[in-house]
Amino acid sequence: MSRDIHIESLSVTFHGHDLIVDSELELNYGRRYGWLGLNGCGKSTLLTIISCRELPIPEHMDIYHLTREIEASDMSALEAL
Ligand SMILES: Nc1ncnc2c1ncn2[C@@H]1O[C@H](COP(=O)(O)OP(=O)(O)OP(=O)(O)O)[C@@H](O)[C@H]1O
Ligand SMILES: [Mg+2]
Repeated sequence: MSRDIHIESLSVTFHGHDLIVDSELELNYGRRYGWLGLNGCGKSTLLTIISCRELPIPEHMDIYHLTREIEASDMSALEAL
């Protein structure tokens, strides 16, 4: 019943390109994370991989993947949803 995710060696290949190579992914309960990277480096792909549960993410963790961008505001993520 852990509330954290820790994957020690993550590699993602998409359409023949290595997007992520032997990387550590750690998402801890109560924290907020941002992805920084060049256009096309694989940020959206990684979100899709997480939301499709292609990684070992416990069933008791809910995931909602908002795939479209919305305008910046003072709303929290939950309020915006
Ligand atoms: N449907 C697809 N078919 C082939 N290649 C794709 C497809 N979707 C994405 N790619 C490629 O996969 C790589 C990762 O794309 P992705 O959209 O995850 O990057 P990103 O970091 O979210 O980029 P951006 O900053 O532009 O949002 C890119 O090289 C992109 O060209
Ligand atoms: Mg993207």
